[in-house]
Amino acid sequence: MSQHDQNRRAWDRLATNDSQFTRVATDAECAQPLVTLDSRGWLPGSVRGLDVLCLASGGGWQSILYAAAGANVTVVDLSPAMLRLDEREASRRHLSVRTIEASMDELPMLADESFDIVHQPVSTCYVPRVADVFQEIARVLRGDGLYISQHKQPTSLQIVDSDPQDRYLLGVEYYHPDPLPAVADRSYREEGACEYLHRWEQLVGELCRAGFVIEDLVEPFRADRRARPGHYRHRGRFVAPYVRLKARRIRAARTIPGTHPIWTPDDR
Ligand SMILES: C[S@@+](CC[C@H](N)C(=O)[O-])C[C@H]1O[C@@H](n2cnc3c(N)ncnc32)[C@H](O)[C@@H]1O
Repeated sequence: MSQHDQNRRAWDRLATNDSQFTRVATDAECAQPLVTLDSRGWLPGSVRGLDVLCLASGGGWQSILYAAAGANVTVVDLSPAMLRLDEREASRRHLSVRTIEASMDELPMLADESFDIVHQPVSTCYVPRVADVFQEIARVLRGDGLYISQHKQPTSLQIVDSDPQDRYLLGVEYYHPDPLPAVADRSYREEGACEYLHRWEQLVGELCRAGFVIEDLVEPFRADRRARPGHYRHRGRFVAPYVRLKARRIRAARTIPGTHPIWTPDDR
């Protein structure tokens, strides 16, 4: 079975279970959609009329909140069952959301420079080459467009187990290009999914090389000093599981011979 088929199947199954990722937007969240989506103030003051791509974000949360805030929303996801949740919630709330079943690393159905914002929750771990995803996003974003994304941190994906002293064991090499081995712990890995470790030079370096500048970076806080061993917040005290990036698509590249590319506005 291909990695895409495996992940489609895994997420179709998660969509029908009560997973934390299939929690749809609530009425209270829809009443304040931008506050809900954006605790950091990374989004513009209004997204009304903007073209937003919710990438690999099926499940009826991000898409519904952007649509409730007045954006023109397209959701791309590999899992039909996750997309059905977006469609069901949009219809229930009389919102308009376009859904497309596709893989994030191959988006020929989306035109060049057709979005103002791309919002991608944790999902690059499901494809082997993160550079392909960043290049597609760079292509479909307009100049100065915003790319908000969250990723699994590589060290977290190296953890395979804990020992009798409740220390976390790094059992996967940092340079690991193949699918990750299955682990029993479900805190930060989805059952049945095929996942890949992306190193920092790939998550950050490939993003910059695709034509983005990083404007901010946060590590969502998952630690709790009172959490007992076995709880995801106990593990979160030792290794931050996620990183969230705010990146901006630079308008065009100008290369000075003999130097690295310098990214400058192309309009004057
Ligand atoms: C963390 S969930 C996203 C959803 C969620 N709404 C949230 O609140 O975080 C990750 C999503 O990535 C999707 N996915 C996995 N592999 C993908 C691929 N190659 N291309 C597009 N989507 C993919 C899954 O189907 C799933 O819906």
